[in-house]
Amino acid sequence: MPLPTFRTVQEMRDQVAAWRLDGLRVGVVFTMGNLHEGHIALVEAALKKTDRVITTIFVNPTQFGEGEDLDSYPRTHEKDTDMVAAAGGHAMFVPSVSEMYPEGFSTRVIVDGLTDVLCGAARPGHFDGVAQIVTKLLNQAQADETFFGEKDWQQLAVVKRLARDLDIPTVINGVPIVRDDYGLALSSRNGYLSEEEIEIARKLNVILKKAAYDIGTGGFTADACEKAAEAILKAGFEKVDYVECRDADTLELVEKSEGRSCRIFGAAHLGRARLIDNHLVN
Ligand code: PAF
Repeated sequence: MPLPTFRTVQEMRDQVAAWRLDGLRVGVVFTMGNLHEGHIALVEAALKKTDRVITTIFVNPTQFGEGEDLDSYPRTHEKDTDMVAAAGGHAMFVPSVSEMYPEGFSTRVIVDGLTDVLCGAARPGHFDGVAQIVTKLLNQAQADETFFGEKDWQQLAVVKRLARDLDIPTVINGVPIVRDDYGLALSSRNGYLSEEEIEIARKLNVILKKAAYDIGTGGFTADACEKAAEAILKAGFEKVDYVECRDADTLELVEKSEGRSCRIFGAAHLGRARLIDNHLVN
């Protein structure tokens, strides 16, 4: 049976309210479509913790910068719905741009501090768009739980902060990164890479993991990060946006990892893709 697809906020809310009335707990997974196994892991995590799961698909224009891939971002709605149905999801929410941003829309959501660094510095305005759309989606769905991939660790931190600051009563869960057999973090943008570029892309994980190990075993963070950035360029990436070791929650730069929960973050450009990854430093 095809999955029910809601096109309006009201349709989704009515369904969520009906499920709640039946005593069911509701989970939501927010996506921009072009789904892969990483997204399906979010749906599976949601199915473990809740009774009914809605997956949203909305390519949010406000989080794309000038010159980025908004127009060419793959729209694969049918295939995506089939994947969600096969995973056991219960419904889709696929709104139009005018449903999400009606005429006269003028509200912005700014999460200070957390959004100035890492991808926020490399993609100015990106997290303002993410914060805006995620706040809307959380309010629209009024779900019990929601699930975000840890590949976008900074996005997860921003969403946790805005949900806390704005008293949004949905539990925000992080789900571990899904990787291919060679360690490449799955991403919709991997589809932009040629076979040769995929081979290079797989080195990002290896290099960051080594840097995490070096830092964890007492290496000086800035030095390990610098070496990792050099190794990324040497591996064939065209440009490194950052390699940094930061506190896992506050995203403050860490000078020495001792006694703090921190992660190493990397972002680099290869062909048409900008790849990001991160690792825990123990
Ligand atoms: O991670 C994504 O796919 C997007 O940033 C999200 C959370 C769906 C908001 O548009």
